[in-house]
Amino acid sequence: MAEKLLRFPKGFVWGAATASYQIEGGHDEGGKGESIWDRFCRTPGKVLGGDTGDVACDHYHLWKEDIKLMGRLGFKGYRFSVAWPRIFPEGKGRVNQVGLDFYDRLVDGLLKAGITPFATLYHWDLPQKLQDEGGWPNRDVAHYFRDYVAEVSKRLGDRVNQWITHNEPWVAAFLGYAMGIHAPGVKDPGAALKASHHLLLSHGEALKAIRENRSKKTKVGITLNLAPIHPASDSDEDKMAARRFDGQLNRWFLDPIFKGSYPEDMIALYGEAAPQVQSGDMELISTEIDFLGVNYYFRSVVKHDPQDQYLQASSIKPEGRQYTEMGWEIYPEGLYEILKRVHDDYGAPTMYVTENGAAFADMIDEKGKVDDQKRVDYLREHFIQVRRAIKDGVDLKGYFVWSLMDNFEWAYGYSRRFGIVHVDYISEKRTVKKSGSWYKKVIEENGVGE
Ligand code: FCB
Repeated sequence: MAEKLLRFPKGFVWGAATASYQIEGGHDEGGKGESIWDRFCRTPGKVLGGDTGDVACDHYHLWKEDIKLMGRLGFKGYRFSVAWPRIFPEGKGRVNQVGLDFYDRLVDGLLKAGITPFATLYHWDLPQKLQDEGGWPNRDVAHYFRDYVAEVSKRLGDRVNQWITHNEPWVAAFLGYAMGIHAPGVKDPGAALKASHHLLLSHGEALKAIRENRSKKTKVGITLNLAPIHPASDSDEDKMAARRFDGQLNRWFLDPIFKGSYPEDMIALYGEAAPQVQSGDMELISTEIDFLGVNYYFRSVVKHDPQDQYLQASSIKPEGRQYTEMGWEIYPEGLYEILKRVHDDYGAPTMYVTENGAAFADMIDEKGKVDDQKRVDYLREHFIQVRRAIKDGVDLKGYFVWSLMDNFEWAYGYSRRFGIVHVDYISEKRTVKKSGSWYKKVIEENGVGE
């Protein structure tokens, strides 16, 4: 039986996402300064296998080839990030034009190929010099971020119309400063809360800076990692635990941005550790955005857990479900659920899925092909949920697969492959996986088979 084609709205932006540290390499080229990830990777025991982003996918040199590849796949949009230490090697003060030149050429190349650039201004590679001054828990860093953003938008703002201030501030704050499993590896929950406030504040400052250089077409948003949080049982204890978990992951960022306040239950829970909010902060943070970027990978199923020091909540792995190589549950309905919730609870903003995808143990076979049927299935099921959300009124304008190509997966090094294009890290050869060819067809037809 022929499959029914579920069509997407005209002009839907199909593409893929990457991040500077994960693909660029060229870690000490073109006058780039050290980032907290350069430092973290050199700290023994922090990254699996001692991997570093020194070379990564060598995109710093192979960017032209990568644009061609995206062109062949028929991309409408490409989401990349700008490395702050390429632009300000010391984080502030001196501007490095060579760093700006790199993104200038990249943007021109994309536009020439008919691909709309979506530029993320912070995907976790803070200049190390600013970490030496305390990093995100230091309020001044929010102001340095504004200066950096002003410089980038001044240079690229005539051609880049889609800007994302931050990628997943929850991860930057909590994995970086509370759990210490991401750079800079700090384990201090109070510092993480401060960091989260300053990340949000810097988002507001960046918005203003970009809008000063705006063209009529400029759109600015922020990307959050959001997920439905389900209680592990019907007990009140588990339900309350799920509510706290939701408070930290979702509402701690959504409420300030859309409602101009932190959730009261979380402020009460954090007590003295809650961040110091100065007058004017919340107005700045809640400056209206043009779109929200949603990164979705999995839901969390949460139980009450007295062992957990802060939230007294921890997640469990439901049995009988499928999991990716990251150990993340495959739960496509969760994407619908979170999009619909943001739509219903936060004033129906325009949204993009700025990341969604899966790691599987992909191998190149004797014929030189990568048969990643599992990723095809994963993507198809998620596309169906996106379509369902659009049908139900969600103003969703595009979808970016994580990721264009296999890359440096943070603390997991190169051990987890998320690409729709395979990368051989010795030869740097790119091979389009089955999922990549399949995605090309989805883009061509602007629809997915049910
Ligand atoms: C997200 C990150 C992205 C990538 C995916 C797998 O949290 O934004 O850089 O690592 O997870």
